[in-house]
Amino acid sequence: MSGSTPGGNRSRDGNLIVENAAEIVTCAAGRAARGGAAMADPGVLSGALLVIEDGRITHLGPAERVQAELAARGTAVDRFSRLDAAGRCVLPGFIDAHTHLVFAGDRVDEFSRRLAGEGYLEILSRGGGILSTVRATRRASREELVRLGLARLDAMLAHGVTTVEAKSGYGLDRETEIRQLEVARELDRRHPVDVVATFLGAHAVPEEYRGRPSAYIDFLIAEVLPEVASRRLARFCDVFCETGVFSPQEARRILQAAADLGLGMKIHADEMSALGGAELAAELGAVSADHLLHVSPAGVAALARAGVVAVLLPMTAFSLREPYAPARAILEAGGAVALATDFNPGSCCSESIPLLAALGAVALGLTAGEIVTALTINAAAALGLASSIGSLEVGKQGDLVVLDAPSHRHLPYRLGVNLVERVVKRGRIVFDKRNPGGTACSPSNRS
Ligand code: NIG
Ligand code: FE
Repeated sequence: MSGSTPGGNRSRDGNLIVENAAEIVTCAAGRAARGGAAMADPGVLSGALLVIEDGRITHLGPAERVQAELAARGTAVDRFSRLDAAGRCVLPGFIDAHTHLVFAGDRVDEFSRRLAGEGYLEILSRGGGILSTVRATRRASREELVRLGLARLDAMLAHGVTTVEAKSGYGLDRETEIRQLEVARELDRRHPVDVVATFLGAHAVPEEYRGRPSAYIDFLIAEVLPEVASRRLARFCDVFCETGVFSPQEARRILQAAADLGLGMKIHADEMSALGGAELAAELGAVSADHLLHVSPAGVAALARAGVVAVLLPMTAFSLREPYAPARAILEAGGAVALATDFNPGSCCSESIPLLAALGAVALGLTAGEIVTALTINAAAALGLASSIGSLEVGKQGDLVVLDAPSHRHLPYRLGVNLVERVVKRGRIVFDKRNPGGTACSPSNRS
């Protein structure tokens, strides 16, 4: 919903009855993230029936009760498609709340250089890293970026992702930053997966402003942010607050300017060094603080107190061979954790939800229940969308995933294996592994 609203694809909204599931995991939490101990039990129903009408959930509960409710209302059940989930686990659609979806080129050489010992920030300071993707993205046409984005969304959908956040940040000039956000909007319109856009003009200091980060922030505030806000091209503003990139003072300036224009705030916080990004997120009332590999104990406490969602990206820590974020300490402080891929060409070139879940368990020490909460309702909260997506509850959007497994506990257990069998978006089956070309609204059949 890059400036548009989720529901832009209303003509595709469907009527669906999901029956016979071994379990339905609701993640029901009302309209907010679950923090601390409340993350552990995502809410598991057996013997339940789930009904979606015009893309929204209208009934969920014991099968007999729901059938009686439908009969009492005189609902013509032959209007509904049926999804037989026998022996399977049904979950809310996964929400990938932190990605850098729109870019051109790859950084496969950089991956080898990093493995041979060169540092991520060292490569960036020599004009490589993010800046090499900037060169490729500036050269790419809009059509090329759309083509690449649609293919990436197909791969994400096959992993059970029904909503994805997409950051700009590979333009670092007015024209290309705007183009990236316009592409995100077009992807949202054309693909079943909803795309929520974030303006990350402050992702790196471009060559034109080398050594002048503060002047670059002035430029973004004066020349780019107003257009992003007035055309509603992004819902959030993010900043890479990092040693050698943008200081906390510079981060504060751009985020406050964005908030004054009505955008929500996010921060790439304490990723490679403890700069106080988490404390800044709490002070400003950001919706999320992301990464947090080096967050201080004070930062952990501040996030929990302020209700800022900690978006953890363990695949990036894995790829960079950095220490993992202190997920258990965040939960012990009462904080809410979300998990996301950080899909990008440099630090983490992966859209793999199975690898993410496995690292959530093995590296972060999260339970299966906490992992499911982190991928659904807490991820929705990290996008300010917890009132419409992220859980299976009456009134919410009918977005769900069917796993080829009887329980959500298989999700981290099947290390790196994609268990997603079917995906439903607003009551329509948009992915079916058993019949990839034949779904009502498969990627190959998009508008
Ligand atoms: O979240 N840290 C900054 N941004 C991304 C990496 C982007 C890139 O390397 O292209 C991140 O890790
Ligand atoms: Fe990132």
